[in-house]
Amino acid sequence: MTPLPCSLLPLLVALVALLLTTTLTHAVDQTKFRTCTQTGFCRRHRNKAPANAYTAALLSSNPNEPYKFLLHPGKGYTQTHPNLSLTVDPLSNGAVRVRVQENNPATARWESSDILLPDGLVRCSSATHSETPQTVTISSSCSSPDGEDPADVVVSLSPFKITVKQGSEVLMSINEAQLFHFEHKRSKLGVPEPTAPTQSDPAADHHNGKKIVGYWEDGLARYEDGTTEVKPVDDVATMVKEDEDGFWEEKFQSHHDAKPNGPMSIGVDITFPQKSTKLYGIPEHASSLALHATRPPPSPHSSSKAPKYKDPYRLYNLDVFEYDLDVPMSLYGSIPLLISHSVDTGRVAGAFFNNPSEMFIDIWEGEGMGSHWMAETGVMEIFLLVGGSKVSEVYKQYSSLTGTQALPPLFSLGYHQCRWNYKDEKDVYAVHKKFEEHDYPYDVLWLDIEHTDGKRYFTWDKRFFPNPVKMQQTLWEQGRRMVTIVDPHIKRDNNYYVHKEATAKSLYIKNADGHSDFNGWCWPGDSSYLDFTEEKVRKWWAEQFKLDKYVGSTPHLHIWNDMNEMSVFNGPEVTMQKTTKNLDGVEHREWHNIYGMLFQRATSEGLVLRSGGKERSFVLSRSFYAGSQRWGAIWTGDNAARWDHLAAAGPMLLTINTAGLSFIGADVGGFFGNADSQLMVRWMQSGAYQPFFRGHAHHDSARREPWLFGDEALQMLRQAAMERYALLPFWYTVFHTSSITGMPVMRPLWMEYPKDANCPALDHQWLIGSDLLVCPVVQKDAVKVNCYFPGNQDWYDVRTMQVQQTPTSKWANLDAPLDTIPVFQRSGSIIPKKMRLRRSTEMMKNDPYTLVVAGDSAAGELYIDDGHSFDFENGEFAKRRFDFADGKLTNTKLGGNWGANGTCKDWIERIIFMGVSKRPSKVVTSGGQELEFTYDKNTLVVRKPELGVVDDWTLQIIS
Ligand code: NOJ
Repeated sequence: MTPLPCSLLPLLVALVALLLTTTLTHAVDQTKFRTCTQTGFCRRHRNKAPANAYTAALLSSNPNEPYKFLLHPGKGYTQTHPNLSLTVDPLSNGAVRVRVQENNPATARWESSDILLPDGLVRCSSATHSETPQTVTISSSCSSPDGEDPADVVVSLSPFKITVKQGSEVLMSINEAQLFHFEHKRSKLGVPEPTAPTQSDPAADHHNGKKIVGYWEDGLARYEDGTTEVKPVDDVATMVKEDEDGFWEEKFQSHHDAKPNGPMSIGVDITFPQKSTKLYGIPEHASSLALHATRPPPSPHSSSKAPKYKDPYRLYNLDVFEYDLDVPMSLYGSIPLLISHSVDTGRVAGAFFNNPSEMFIDIWEGEGMGSHWMAETGVMEIFLLVGGSKVSEVYKQYSSLTGTQALPPLFSLGYHQCRWNYKDEKDVYAVHKKFEEHDYPYDVLWLDIEHTDGKRYFTWDKRFFPNPVKMQQTLWEQGRRMVTIVDPHIKRDNNYYVHKEATAKSLYIKNADGHSDFNGWCWPGDSSYLDFTEEKVRKWWAEQFKLDKYVGSTPHLHIWNDMNEMSVFNGPEVTMQKTTKNLDGVEHREWHNIYGMLFQRATSEGLVLRSGGKERSFVLSRSFYAGSQRWGAIWTGDNAARWDHLAAAGPMLLTINTAGLSFIGADVGGFFGNADSQLMVRWMQSGAYQPFFRGHAHHDSARREPWLFGDEALQMLRQAAMERYALLPFWYTVFHTSSITGMPVMRPLWMEYPKDANCPALDHQWLIGSDLLVCPVVQKDAVKVNCYFPGNQDWYDVRTMQVQQTPTSKWANLDAPLDTIPVFQRSGSIIPKKMRLRRSTEMMKNDPYTLVVAGDSAAGELYIDDGHSFDFENGEFAKRRFDFADGKLTNTKLGGNWGANGTCKDWIERIIFMGVSKRPSKVVTSGGQELEFTYDKNTLVVRKPELGVVDDWTLQIIS
């Protein structure tokens, strides 16, 4: 190698420096975001050594209310530390509700009434209990998944611990590792709140036959006979003063958090038994499906793995610019739901820690898996989800608490084309026309913030969008809808009607003083933020979407909610100061993580209101919390046009699905940067098999409509979109199922094959429902992909219709040239499709169906309704079941009124049977009619059976 001339050296150094800075500009500025060490409550909880610090005593076991315990602080706490109240409540859905809070109602902590659904909280009426000196065991038949041992909840009294057991098998425990720590409400001088003595409800508060008459000043229960059940702390000298680090104020960068209410954090460990294989959930993080260890186990085991991450997973909704991959930093949304699964036993359990304040969660792997939850404030409320050997039980319980996935309007499952920004009406028409010319299916064209008049939402920049109604109508005439963006920050312009009204009605979030409107920076410059935690504000907001209010809108316009973490450019960590207040005077720190969800909810309610309650809404949101599945779709925010971001999308979407939120996607092509044709094709292929399917790009990215990558790429991109559209009847059916059962739409393999040791960590491939296996290519230049085939049945390649010949290891290195995404149908399934190429869902409405039957014994479902209204709630739908066995295919009714009055004309134009070993002699209907068919390579195609979708019929293959 020739040495470089010295004169070139400085140039080279400059070049390397330039390259480095260019690379660095595409990474998050980590210093803008707090770590655990920079956060007082996290630091305090994390540094606290496990301590047997609390004991429990049963106070009441009245069948009409939750089991009540008194939690008494033991050694290690000062005498000013009050008793706490613990309630344990087996619910009729099978979950167990556990709550801990201050004992004195006068110091009740804030909690939201907008998260949990009343039906999910119905108590189990059949619970009974038994006591030993050390334990109280609560048994309820409600928490026994069908056909399995009932689950018992064992409350150990000293030290306090709660264990859920099924037979002798421990599913999960609270405070097994003794990390429970509760920072009680206090006044600044360390003087306890004026809580004692409190006269408790004398009728209810009994223990061991003794009546509780009140509490001593240190919070200890006092009995009628003058005794105290739980002994006072005996050795005052050993009590340590709590570390006051970060109690009353905190600083981060130039921001100061005054913390007027002082420390109120709560923390506890939730552990899963030794046989737990992996933990999943707690989105949103740009990380793998299986959670990584973030700390060693509290009591080290020889088998414990070194933690991969140093920081705990964080849940604090933030607008993270150019987010990094493979880190536990928080992103735009939070769902505090953790799922554990054991390959050994096939058992599944979950814990939903319902608290919308900032949280950190440590994970450890030892003999079993554990988690340490640390929340800044709020009530400690944990729902233990008893899955047993049924994954579906966990989702049944969780969705009865927070809601199932709302059934999306059918169009929203099609392809969406977005860009920041389609510049003007001419641009919109031109893009639309090109889609038409190329016979390229798409359903929705999106307009980003630049379409507005100076980022005043609900307005149009008239220079570029003079005729928005005509524009929407023109697109609608060709079956397309539009979406406009509406963000939660409102421009502080006294001539802007939204701001004027919001100010006059006092609907904005307030500064710490509780009176003046908060003013922060966002797209429009000075902005105020509506208080969506307040019902009256949500109602007012919903009104804004009425057609006469939102001038220039039509019924075919749907909405995109962005920046709702909420994003405040000049605030700490790009959000609002924690001391700001909602209209009830409650600090933002209490409700931060639900703001985004409540905003999306108000918008969604607005669109429903606009239609007089008739039409389903479509609203896309960036921020989310548990329950967001009721309000629309979510996307993973500002990813990048990079291969590693394409690869990260699968695991991220799987994690969010695992947390009960199914309608989720990632920007196809990647938001920042430029996608070349190869990346674009691979991303479109992958996105076509993910629930929400939208192409989007930053304004600095080169235009990337599908026809801009050359003809060859265009054909491949179009093929991917067509595959999506052909499968829409299947997607819609899976979404319908999710709307009933809460089961995720996009599933990790372990969910369907919980005893398969190869599945737990697999997150580069996934299932749609239980029948389609998707193995996308996410690596540059790869033309092969390693795919795992779970289960004891065959899988059929959806392209060749042939059985995938898989070696015994069940891994196969598959050919995947650029025009192919390997997708397989499970033998034993029947999938409905629509195979005529159309340009939108609207145009496919009356198209006939194709059924694809895989294997010689199979079953499947089809759900249909009008695709847009709520009429299905009144029975206006058809749900059919197809069964195939012994050469006989039957169609029977599962539900719905469609079919009763002959109004549903949907019919089947083709039935494909894969895996038919020999050519049949004939195929006949139950009416004796012989049907046309072709047979080739084990595939039988019955043509034009012209059977009604909603009619009961049988078809027989005669060998
Ligand atoms: C941030 C969003 O994540 C992005 O998708 C959008 O294009 C910009 N805001 C502008 O609205």
